[in-house]
Amino acid sequence: MSICVVILAAGRGKRMKSSKPKVLHEVLGKPMLQYPIDAVKALKPKRLVVVVGSGAEYVKNYVSINEKSVFFVSQKKLTGTGNAMIEARKALKGFDNTTIIVLNGDSPLITAKTLKNLLKNHQSSKNALSFLSFVDNSVSGYGRVWRDEQGKVIGIIEDKHTTLSEKRRLKELNGGIYAMEPEILNYLDRLKIHSSSGEYYLTDVVSIVAKLGKRVDAYQCPLEELQGINTREDLWQASKILNRRNISKWMKRGVTFIDPDTSVVHSPVSIGVDTVIYPNTYLEGNTSIGKNCIIYPGARIYGSALKDRVIVKDSTLIENSSVGDGSTIGPFAHLRPHSHIGQNVRIGNFVEIKKSTIKNGSKASHLSYIGDAEIGECVNIGAGTITCNYDGQKKYPTVIESGVFVGSDSQLVAPVKIGKGAYIAAGSTITKDVPVNSLAVGRAKQENIKDWKIKRKLKNKQ
Ligand code: UD1
Ligand code: CA
Repeated sequence: MSICVVILAAGRGKRMKSSKPKVLHEVLGKPMLQYPIDAVKALKPKRLVVVVGSGAEYVKNYVSINEKSVFFVSQKKLTGTGNAMIEARKALKGFDNTTIIVLNGDSPLITAKTLKNLLKNHQSSKNALSFLSFVDNSVSGYGRVWRDEQGKVIGIIEDKHTTLSEKRRLKELNGGIYAMEPEILNYLDRLKIHSSSGEYYLTDVVSIVAKLGKRVDAYQCPLEELQGINTREDLWQASKILNRRNISKWMKRGVTFIDPDTSVVHSPVSIGVDTVIYPNTYLEGNTSIGKNCIIYPGARIYGSALKDRVIVKDSTLIENSSVGDGSTIGPFAHLRPHSHIGQNVRIGNFVEIKKSTIKNGSKASHLSYIGDAEIGECVNIGAGTITCNYDGQKKYPTVIESGVFVGSDSQLVAPVKIGKGAYIAAGSTITKDVPVNSLAVGRAKQENIKDWKIKRKLKNKQ
């Protein structure tokens, strides 16, 4: 049977104390709203509705960049999850024979597998309304499930409206994920506003439907999947759980983590077999790491593609760049955005590369700045080489062709081109192009004054 999905994402998220809409706060490299979207996509919904309100433009912009199939509905007045669902109803007209899955946009831990189970239970029990619940004494803020003596679900009481004795008695909590038949949408009109909060609660529909004698049930699943994010602490907890999930996924696929507790692996990251990840490492954004790589402590790699057998040594930062097979980066190196490093390249201690291409077999092993440069194959960049790419107003390119040897402590004043196979004498300031196979010496000629020290002593005695 086909399904439609509604994700409620209009709330203010007051408890986050943020100027940003709550559902756009990132959890391991993806805004939290992206997680339920990704999970429901596996169920192939006929329509995917996202209810937006607070920060609607930001949320829409973000989601429409990534998702072409989302249907947005605006909630004009943010008067609770019940009202959000009333708004969503308009977008579900014409989908009469579909079960509707409703999720909170602040629940990033839910998996497609659990949603499929909910749907299966809902459909095989022929329920009018089903939802996910969990039992846990350590959390607060969740609605509590009310069952009669026979164990039939008869309602949900929101946390803030429960008395202490109800809190003690009702231990089953609402996960905020529902499966419902389209007829439930008609009962939304019976919801009443709670004057203390000024909100209509979607959860009140449970007692309305139960009173009508319709089948309602809750299906338990571990808190781990139902944890909602209301505060920064919740954000941290959810990140920890997702990080552990990500790391165990890659361990199962043949990646070694020396200390998973201190590595952070964002959800979009991929890692090849037999790669070893040392402690205190951050693999962030859309990063891919190849096979047989070693990532040593203190590395942070963001939005980058590393091929096979790459070694990233200690305390190295790689941002939006690419590194070819067998290359070594670091220790203490910085690849700034748009740096493209070929195969078997060596970028060593305290080398900064910015928006440059370095082809196969080249080396810049110590203390250099390479910016806006194009460097050919098997080039040797001596210690302390600097591309002077900026005149205070504009940036200029440096081209170094294959086989060039740049002696230590040279400055290459851009725009400048060093022809194939040329040599730059150490300590040169190069301001003119160097022809192929030439030697360029750009420094004052050395003069040795014979016996200068002895002569100075004699002079001082006089
Ligand atoms: C809600 C449930 C609670 C459940 C918990 C699970 C209600 C009344 N309560 O509480 O029973 O245990 O989720 O996490 O539903 N939203 C809107 N429009 C609004 C208000 C909220 O779209 O006017 C969206 C929010 O963006 C959020 C979701 O609905 O994604 C849930 O809202 P939130 O205020 O976080 O509800 P909880 O208090 O967590
Ligand atoms: Ca919530």
